[in-house]
Amino acid sequence: MAMEKTFSIIKPNAMKKNCIGDIISMFEANGLKIAACKITVMSKSKAEEFYAEHKARPFFGELVSFMTSGPVVLMCLAGENAVLKNREIMGSTDPKKANPGTIRAKFGDNVGENAVHGSDSPASAERELALFFEKAEICNA
Ligand code: RTP
Ligand code: MG
Repeated sequence: MAMEKTFSIIKPNAMKKNCIGDIISMFEANGLKIAACKITVMSKSKAEEFYAEHKARPFFGELVSFMTSGPVVLMCLAGENAVLKNREIMGSTDPKKANPGTIRAKFGDNVGENAVHGSDSPASAERELALFFEKAEICNA
């Protein structure tokens, strides 16, 4: 199986619930390592760049204002099939449709404020990690 890296965000609504530890424990319990981690408040321009693929969608403005509304945790997760594994641990975009036990089922509030982000492919992961981390900030051990 392929060792991969993926990009993860704990979104502002989950930060408010004081559940960073619970979420990180779910990654670790499923074999993913935290290879980089920082807390920051995203700038509007960075959020717009990050979500550029959704620019034409009706929820784009709302999404950018939510993602810049408070601190977030930015992480690099590493492990076998990290991209897909992370998406499974997160659950469906809409917390109402997410499998029980997934992060979004537990900590998501609605389809917009859904607790976490995870890259949807290895190529997205590479682009997203490069937006937020210097290469030297990511642990390769
Ligand atoms: P993400 O990129 O955050 O990991 O989520 P995803 O792949 O499951 O969903 P995506 O389609 O890429 O949408 C990105 C984020 O936009 C917000 N969203 N709002 N109001 C709406 O109908 C709506 N749909 C999507 C969510 O925050 C979603 O995670
Ligand atoms: Mg997405």
